[in-house]
Amino acid sequence: MKVEEIDAAEQMGEVGRILLERNRKKGILIHTLQAIQEDNGYLPEDVLRRLSKKLDLPLAEIYSVASFYKQFHFSPRGRKVVRVCMGTACYVRGSKKVLSTLEERFNIKAGETTEDLAMTLETVGCIGCCGLAPVSTVNKNVVGEIGSKKLNELIKTIKRDKDGEAKEHKGS
Ligand code: FES
Repeated sequence: MKVEEIDAAEQMGEVGRILLERNRKKGILIHTLQAIQEDNGYLPEDVLRRLSKKLDLPLAEIYSVASFYKQFHFSPRGRKVVRVCMGTACYVRGSKKVLSTLEERFNIKAGETTEDLAMTLETVGCIGCCGLAPVSTVNKNVVGEIGSKKLNELIKTIKRDKDGEAKEHKGS
């Protein structure tokens, strides 16, 4: 416990103790949410309910904390997360077309995930690679200078992964 914490607890008595305990739980909460998302790709409700009991924190409070951070997701994510940059340089060089083509080909809108979980499609602000505009990221990789050829390759890769996955399931 830090010196300031001891002082606060001593000065404020029971209220200070409760506040310190809540802060401690919140610190644990963020790390635990990160671990849950790492394992599942998102924050499943049943896991959050169990966490709520374990930490003795209301579920609403857990949701409130998790919603504050953009990094947390509450529904399953696609195996490929494609983020189309809509920053000025990319927009001027055709990112709107990239986005609309992906939306059409996978029959989803930005912010959605395909039913088979092959892809989540999102938009993003400038990611600092303006010289390669129009740019998208696919999971952690940056794909730059996306013309129709690269876009078709990207679509094929996502569809191929989807088919490969289906075959694996059939085989098993
Ligand atoms: S505007 Fe897209 S990378 Fe900068």
